[in-house]
Amino acid sequence: MRVVVTGGAGFIGSHIVEELLRRGASVVVLDDFSSGKEENLSSARGPLEIARGSICEPENVQAAFRGADRVIHLAARTSVPRSVSDPVETNRVNIDGTLNVLVGARDAKVKRVVFAASSSAYGETPTLPKVESMEAQPISPYGVTKLVGEIYGQVFGRCYGLENVSLRYFNVFGPRQDPSSPYSGVLSKFATALLEGKPPVVFGDGEQSRDFTYVANVVDATLRAAETSGISGLVFNVGTGARFTLNQTLELLGKISGRAARAKYEAARFGDILHSQADISLAKQKLGYIPSVDFEEGLRRTWEWYASTYAKV
Ligand code: UD1
Repeated sequence: MRVVVTGGAGFIGSHIVEELLRRGASVVVLDDFSSGKEENLSSARGPLEIARGSICEPENVQAAFRGADRVIHLAARTSVPRSVSDPVETNRVNIDGTLNVLVGARDAKVKRVVFAASSSAYGETPTLPKVESMEAQPISPYGVTKLVGEIYGQVFGRCYGLENVSLRYFNVFGPRQDPSSPYSGVLSKFATALLEGKPPVVFGDGEQSRDFTYVANVVDATLRAAETSGISGLVFNVGTGARFTLNQTLELLGKISGRAARAKYEAARFGDILHSQADISLAKQKLGYIPSVDFEEGLRRTWEWYASTYAKV
């Protein structure tokens, strides 16, 4: 089995690549290294090719997809606030780039594309937990691009018979999440702030909540979505089914790390949703997905990784 992972040098992608190799697949990573890093793949062992290039160039996609059985499409601009400040750039990568991926997959006769969609598609729908059958109401340009990616996939299924599955990831965290940008995921920011002895910054009152999902759970769900038959065209939530506020999260992280986790509160961010929590019944039923690492355990492993990686520098 030959699998292309777009964005395979990124945080989530590199974990998926490692597991694919462990299971005996040959893997092609297509990545422009704009946020991905070579060191993320330094412990990957097995038949791995790295194609350096952007999904925004159709030639890169065509070359990487030749002979592929599956494509796992993760390459994207992943930040909500970045999409608010630069919607055109997020649209270019997340929508135009995804269209290139779908066209490339169709032309290379790829069996299935698994798309990294997002819980941000739900936007401000007040009901919790979020179920896939709810209407999507994104409130950020980023959320729009991820929803469009799902719809594009489904339309390619109808028009060209390309199998497609979309996974609405809920706030993925874990080792290798890059803390270095103002747009980085909140747990990477919190962990590195504590290591540096600085107060973690909380945007808003900290009572917003997320279904923080440890990356190993996401790898498991993604590979199930790549392999399970009879699910083309479906959209699945990939979360844990629980939610924690940022204040609760800081308290927990303070306990795990043994460091003071007193927050500095700043103005809330535009485009932010308030609460997020997944109903994972559909993924349980159709993919056999059961999250194996809960939030607290994931946070412990994540803290240990940041402590050993960032304490040295
Ligand atoms: C995250 C992902 C997005 C994904 C979505 C759903 C990132 C960068 N974003 O968006 O790709 O599609 O989940 O899975 O991984 N916050 C702070 N302090 C900080 C940083 C953030 O208080 O230093 C707050 C934010 O204002 C927000 C919450 O923490 O309320 C989560 O923010 P963030 O980690 O950026 O994730 P989402 O915007 O939820």
